[in-house]
Amino acid sequence: MNNMSESKVLRMELGEFSYDIVIERGALHRAGELFDLDRKVMIITDDGVPEEYADAVADMAAESTVFTVPQGEMSKDLGWYRAILTKMLKLDFSRLDCVVAVGGGVVGDLAGFVAASYMRGIDFYNIPTTVLSQVDSSIGGKTGVNLNGIKNIVGAFHQPKKVIVDLDLLKSLNTRQVCNGLAEAVKVSLTSDAEMFELFEKGNIRENIDEIVYRSLMVKKNVVEQDEKEQGLRKILNFGHTIGHGIESFERLNGLYHGECVALGMIPMVSGELRPRLVKVLESLHLPTSIELDVDGVFDAMMHDKKGVGDTVTITTVDIPGHFEMKKVSFDELKPLIQIVGK
Ligand code: GLY
Repeated sequence: MNNMSESKVLRMELGEFSYDIVIERGALHRAGELFDLDRKVMIITDDGVPEEYADAVADMAAESTVFTVPQGEMSKDLGWYRAILTKMLKLDFSRLDCVVAVGGGVVGDLAGFVAASYMRGIDFYNIPTTVLSQVDSSIGGKTGVNLNGIKNIVGAFHQPKKVIVDLDLLKSLNTRQVCNGLAEAVKVSLTSDAEMFELFEKGNIRENIDEIVYRSLMVKKNVVEQDEKEQGLRKILNFGHTIGHGIESFERLNGLYHGECVALGMIPMVSGELRPRLVKVLESLHLPTSIELDVDGVFDAMMHDKKGVGDTVTITTVDIPGHFEMKKVSFDELKPLIQIVGK
């Protein structure tokens, strides 16, 4: 499945909340057929996404409004959430109307949470426009915003009605943005798909991007189907995120992207044998493999992240690609691991 010019549909099987993920180049322009847009449609995007993507959806809808937030994590907050809901209320959106996200992870999480909570939940469609959102955040139903510097602390599980993964939309991204998203694909290859990890080791990533996106979605679909609400298995999707989020919160002013922090966060979580192979893959993707850091600062930020219960957190480790182990550890046990990526 190297060249995916044809359409692929993955069905996320979640009982009455099941939905299709349509993977097809050019499918943005079929949103009118694939989604039910014959109603009021709130299209949420950001100012880093080419305007024509949201406009294309707007042109296919019966009655549309495009709401554009500033690009970046700062938009995932209660202020923008409230502003969008207020607009919907003013425009008399009803329970039968819908929300469409056209953007990356921030837009998807914010728009999804708007849809999850407006009138106790209305239909939500997602058109992810970044590698990160296409391989990870657009499916699985996690929605939410940040509060007081804590990521995703307010939110809801609200599955989309359908997702369009149109790889042509990635054309406008620069290399750094593409590689940022690929870090999440490396993540699932390590925990669950050894063949995909080999693809990363072989190189030619641009050539194999269709296959990488498809395989990542397959892994995520399988995990979410088994554990939608993250009671157990779904925690593997947080592989690399415990230390990664600590670095991200602490290093935010230094401008590291989410995927870059996850790249750093994965390194201490693999076996000593696998580590040089992972570092090589990350280097080939221009992702960071070490940074100047303040271990205490990252540690405090990690504790503040609130993903743990009490002073313990469930982490995932990988010894060889495709084999993971989950274990509960104390935050104190994690502290020396942070130094592994310190310069
Ligand atoms: N991005 C992790 C998850 O969806 O569970």
